[in-house]
Amino acid sequence: MSLPKYFELANGDRMPRIGFGTWQASDEVLEKAVDAALESGYRHFDSARAYENEAALGRALRRWIGDNPARRNELFVVTKLPPGGNRPDLVPEYFNASLKDLGLDYLDMYLMHTPFAFEHVPGDLHPKSPDGSMRVDLSTDLIAVWKAVLKLREGGAVRHVGVSNVNEEQLARLCAVERPACLQVEVHALCQQPALLTAAARLGVPVVAYSPLGSKALADALAEKTGRSYPSLLSLPAVSRAAAAHARAPAQVLLRHALQRGLAAIPKSTNPARIQENISVWDFELSESEMAELGALDRGEDGRICDFSFFQGIEKHPEFPFKK
Ligand code: A2P
Repeated sequence: MSLPKYFELANGDRMPRIGFGTWQASDEVLEKAVDAALESGYRHFDSARAYENEAALGRALRRWIGDNPARRNELFVVTKLPPGGNRPDLVPEYFNASLKDLGLDYLDMYLMHTPFAFEHVPGDLHPKSPDGSMRVDLSTDLIAVWKAVLKLREGGAVRHVGVSNVNEEQLARLCAVERPACLQVEVHALCQQPALLTAAARLGVPVVAYSPLGSKALADALAEKTGRSYPSLLSLPAVSRAAAAHARAPAQVLLRHALQRGLAAIPKSTNPARIQENISVWDFELSESEMAELGALDRGEDGRICDFSFFQGIEKHPEFPFKK
């Protein structure tokens, strides 16, 4: 089975289906990792204002572009509107700040990062009350924010806009205004999101899987905080069996599973060998029975890692997307 390496977007632009994730990497480590990713052939880079590392990503990308501006067109750069910017009047300000930090003339994709919102506090992307709970802005008008995000394209500084972390009902509501160019959500072997993916396919929205390898750093942090245990995706027996059968690494099996389900995926690594491994997933194929075995690993809502419980009190927001 030869799989397309790109999502074809509305104007003919192509979004590579393996992208490079950048969450939770410090500036210096990230710059080196991005250098390695570019060297390995990655051209799709996923960032977010909330990750607070756009400047480091931008430095590495600009270094690679050098004095050859044509190279910019080879890249597909994504960043996201932070939850503190989920008010229509604030959208241009947050967008311009991202563009400035990345040091680029335009973005390929800009996503609404979450349907819920924090208060807008200049200089603080994660504002908290003294008791540690998030300062949540309960007045979010999701459709008005989406319309403001859509409007960004008029200035030409962003080519495509999309959403992240929304549920089926929210996706349908946004599509009634205009279909997002992509939906980025957590999807992996333990959290396969069949209903959301079916809804996205019906609505014609391509899906990008984040945490495709199980986001170990986040899982470890949450395990320490909550006592909940998060199985390692990389050592699940069905994953190990398929890896052994194809003489591949477990991470490659997980990524191939996502690709054969029709998704794009944005694995994160700071290790050059693993960075290379994660993009070398085009020359083998999981069988129907392997796909079925991997499919049976789904734990539904219990498999979700990024449930935003690290934002204390966020479930009170009327647009909180997950089951409470
Ligand atoms: P490292 O950066 O040391 O490679 P996700 O993309 O789901 O957020 O997962 C990222 C985590 O998976 C990081 O801890 C990363 O560690 C690890 N990782 C990334 N690629 C691989 C790989 N090919 N094999 C094993 N672990 C990997």
